[in-house]
Amino acid sequence: MSDFPRIVVSPPGPKARELLKRDERYVSPSYSRYYPLVVDSGKDCVVKDVDGNEYIDFNAGIACLNVGHTHPRIVGAVKSQCDRFLHYSNTDFYYEQVIRLAESLADITPGSFEKKTYFGNSGTEAIEAALKLAKWHTRKQLFIAFTGAFHGRTVGSLSFTASRPTQRRHFLPLMPGVTHVPYGYCYRCPFKMTYPECNYWCVEYIDEFVLQKYAPPEDVAAFVYEPIQGEGGYIVPPPEYFQKLKKLADKYGILTIADEVQSGIGRTGKWFGIEHWGVEPDIVCSAKALASGLPIGAATASSKIMDWSAGSHASTFGGNPLSCAAALAVIDVIKEERLLENANKQGVHALKRLDELAEKNLMIGEVRGKGLMIGVELVKDRESKTPASQEAREVMIRSWKRGVAVVTCGVSTLRLSPPLTIQRELIDTALDIVEDTINEVATETGVVQV
Ligand SMILES: Cc1ncc(COP(=O)(O)O)c(C=O)c1O
Repeated sequence: MSDFPRIVVSPPGPKARELLKRDERYVSPSYSRYYPLVVDSGKDCVVKDVDGNEYIDFNAGIACLNVGHTHPRIVGAVKSQCDRFLHYSNTDFYYEQVIRLAESLADITPGSFEKKTYFGNSGTEAIEAALKLAKWHTRKQLFIAFTGAFHGRTVGSLSFTASRPTQRRHFLPLMPGVTHVPYGYCYRCPFKMTYPECNYWCVEYIDEFVLQKYAPPEDVAAFVYEPIQGEGGYIVPPPEYFQKLKKLADKYGILTIADEVQSGIGRTGKWFGIEHWGVEPDIVCSAKALASGLPIGAATASSKIMDWSAGSHASTFGGNPLSCAAALAVIDVIKEERLLENANKQGVHALKRLDELAEKNLMIGEVRGKGLMIGVELVKDRESKTPASQEAREVMIRSWKRGVAVVTCGVSTLRLSPPLTIQRELIDTALDIVEDTINEVATETGVVQV
């Protein structure tokens, strides 16, 4: 039996409630918290709240803690960097940590060509850099993005984000020149077609109805995509989707930008999610797990493309030495602890268990994922596929109260993204709880079980 979870007081406990009151008074209401988990500390796959409850962490700080909480190697690397220097603006001077990290990223990102990396402080900054670089290099103004995408919240990246109206409401107009097209979401095909009979119409449509009608291909700088949509619902496109997209991009000399902010750094069992499709993007954006939760954003491009001139883009804190030290340690830990293999192993096991549950529980519409990026989409019934949003929320809250910190994404999908260090016993304990909760909610809400 696993030692976790340990619920000592029904959350949110008294200390959490006190902090929530202060948060409500002083902290921006724009944050949309999933539930009142107030974190005190974390160790590997367990997160502890301020009232002493210990949860199995299926969130990993929203896919940031791929090597687990407070990994001693990461903490050690950051502490020793603290003793040397905290900051010296990579924009204006040099330090080795940035150079070493750029070398490592050139090594682990897809493609065996020469590469260079620009460093910012967040996912959205990695995307902004990629967009500006694509414009600079191609001297073109248009972009193709995908419905359901999430690329960030600053004005440039927000122009590409299309997963919830609330992210854009009252902020329009945004950056001009971005056209959204349907993503390869076969479970809810926007064209109401069926894979594989559709023959990838969603890709052909871009050529026939977008590039040939109103987005002149010679003016398109790049296609911007998530290899697996994250906030949009952990959506995995079909097997040849990105090859076909790449072929289309090549046909017109359009660049491809892979947003690996959530799917990168081992989350899917490969360094980068796009590797599952065997495609080499022109620019790869990473952030989140790269520095184990310390602020960083990286846009890595082929050296031929990253040809912008001095002064064209920079950031005071981008590639700060603490984040770089953490990121170098993260890459070492993933290699040395063979975490890509573990993500695959545990991911295959989790998918098998969830598929078995889906045979019995009709509230599960689809189970999908790669490595430890797993989505369980809940529906009110399998015929109409009406999203079971309230039910998904209920499963999330009840699972948390029972000791598994898990959240939703998309409209009604549970997102499972534990640290890649998780082992069988703990993942099974957490899945027992989540599965029981799904069964309980399905029964209560009248979704008949087989
Ligand atoms: C795929 C993807 N891109 C970009 C971002 C934006 O990252 P940040 O919140 O660090 O700006 C996120 C954040 O969730 C993301 O999941």
